[in-house]
Amino acid sequence: MNQTTLNKNNVPKHIAIIMDGNGRWAKKQSKLRMFGHKIGVQAVKETVEKAADLGVQFLTLYAFSSENWNRPVIEINALMELLINTIHKETKTLIENNIKLKAIGDIDSLPKRCRTNLQDAIDKTSNNTQMTLVLALSYGSREEIVNATKRICKKVSEGEISIDDINDKIFNENLYTNNIPDPELLIRTSGEYRISNFLLWQIAYSELYFVDVLWPDFRETHLVQAINDYLKRERRFGKTSEQIEQESTI
Ligand code: FPP
Repeated sequence: MNQTTLNKNNVPKHIAIIMDGNGRWAKKQSKLRMFGHKIGVQAVKETVEKAADLGVQFLTLYAFSSENWNRPVIEINALMELLINTIHKETKTLIENNIKLKAIGDIDSLPKRCRTNLQDAIDKTSNNTQMTLVLALSYGSREEIVNATKRICKKVSEGEISIDDINDKIFNENLYTNNIPDPELLIRTSGEYRISNFLLWQIAYSELYFVDVLWPDFRETHLVQAINDYLKRERRFGKTSEQIEQESTI
């Protein structure tokens, strides 16, 4: 199968990406780590445009994890500055391409200027319909799950719901990703085989795709390859192959 056969009916509705390898990419060029992040923005732009073009409805990018706060302050500050500038500069492009921006994570922990720019872009793109770009910022999945649990416990203790009401749906509604479908495909670049505290609840049935390309080198052809690989998989959700075949003939 090649690129031309991909269409809105067979591409995953939601793709999530762990963009990894910026630091190693910079090191290979004998440059500072920040240079890798800067060039990584080009890969972000190309991936967002291609995903929207292919008819992907949700694209979630792991841009800054809750654990990334442990990096040297100089890298954190530079990354925040890059995020602020990129979001500010690209809001116009998001509007032109009919892309809605959302953010998941502990947004309150971001610097004020970052929050303001982010909110401005979210507001200005809120009516867009082509694709939703979800930025995971100061995001940690365990923290998200703990917070959801606390919110549900509060509802139980205040009598809003009973313990027996707690189910997958209630849990989903209390995650940052409320109203965002689970990703069918999770991509990680850089050749590492880890999930790194990303969307642990949401990827229960996602197809995982690991590619040995550092994020700044990730091009639209890599995205297409990942989708083609996904299309070859049989997603059984615990059922047998025969059941899946039978269902597809109905
Ligand atoms: C992981 O590579 C990448 C990050 C922690 C930051 C990702 C940020 C960008 C691509 C730029 C801004 C993004 C947006 C959405 C505007 P790493 O630093 O962990 O690389 P390494 O594993 O080689 O050290």
